[in-house]
Amino acid sequence: VNHLLGIKYINKQDIDLIFETADHFKEVINRSIKKVPTLRDITIANIFFENSTRTRLSFELAEKRLSADVVNFSAGQSSVKKGETLIDTVNNILSMKVDMVVMRHPNPGAGIFLSKHVNASIINAGDGAHEHPTQALLDSYSIREKLGDVKGKNVVIVGDILHSRVALSNIFALRLQGANVKVCGPKTLIPKYIESLGVGVETNLVKALEWCHVANMLRVQNERMDISYFPSTREYTQQFGINKKLLDSINKDIIIMHPGPINRGVEITSDVADSDQSVILNQVENGVAIRMAVIYLLASKIK
Ligand code: CP
Repeated sequence: VNHLLGIKYINKQDIDLIFETADHFKEVINRSIKKVPTLRDITIANIFFENSTRTRLSFELAEKRLSADVVNFSAGQSSVKKGETLIDTVNNILSMKVDMVVMRHPNPGAGIFLSKHVNASIINAGDGAHEHPTQALLDSYSIREKLGDVKGKNVVIVGDILHSRVALSNIFALRLQGANVKVCGPKTLIPKYIESLGVGVETNLVKALEWCHVANMLRVQNERMDISYFPSTREYTQQFGINKKLLDSINKDIIIMHPGPINRGVEITSDVADSDQSVILNQVENGVAIRMAVIYLLASKIK
């Protein structure tokens, strides 16, 4: 495979290899060696048709730490605004001798489509509500780091499951590694097919927290909602928001995750997001090592 289009298209051995490679890069970074000469002859284009802070910066840092040449493209400042198609855009970039494309796009399947039409390795950095594979990898890697293993752990994904590429990629990754997975949220934000993926559904947050070792709190993606989904933000926070008082009442060492960006006070309060139980910034830190590993492993098939 010369692409990372989704967790759906890889297996447990692939994940193990990515984690072992990330372990190596994390150790290198921790020794304050910020740059390795590994990919000096590789050029990577980061093509973002949607906003991003963590994913985009993390990919760029990972590429630079591997000594790749990097070009960045934001659709908002490009000729896409003049009507240029995705394939034309990417083929023009590739004609400048680019080897690998990291792409975020609002349309589900955009990376898969691109991989069939252009001659380069494609990494999906988030395609609509479909998949965000490197986010799921860094999430599982962070659980493994904290709990030793993902296998047998109870993980609840809380919130807007319907519009979440993070939820879907996490479900695939966690199931591949033998975790027990539940989703928790308003029924209107949980897709009907979810149980067919081997995932339990819980609509009571207290019960979900009592069951889990890890709670991954998702953002309500208002930008992807084209009709008015029940509940209102206030009702959502009352029923599915996590706060210190609630967490203390469960009296368990639950690991709190969030992919970011956080809506502080909506799905999570600051006293939880910034607490010792939160691994939110560890997730971001691990994102660089995971993306170095993914790029390195894909590039080894190009070279
Ligand atoms: N987690 C994540 O994808 O964040 P960004 O949208 O800021 O990249």
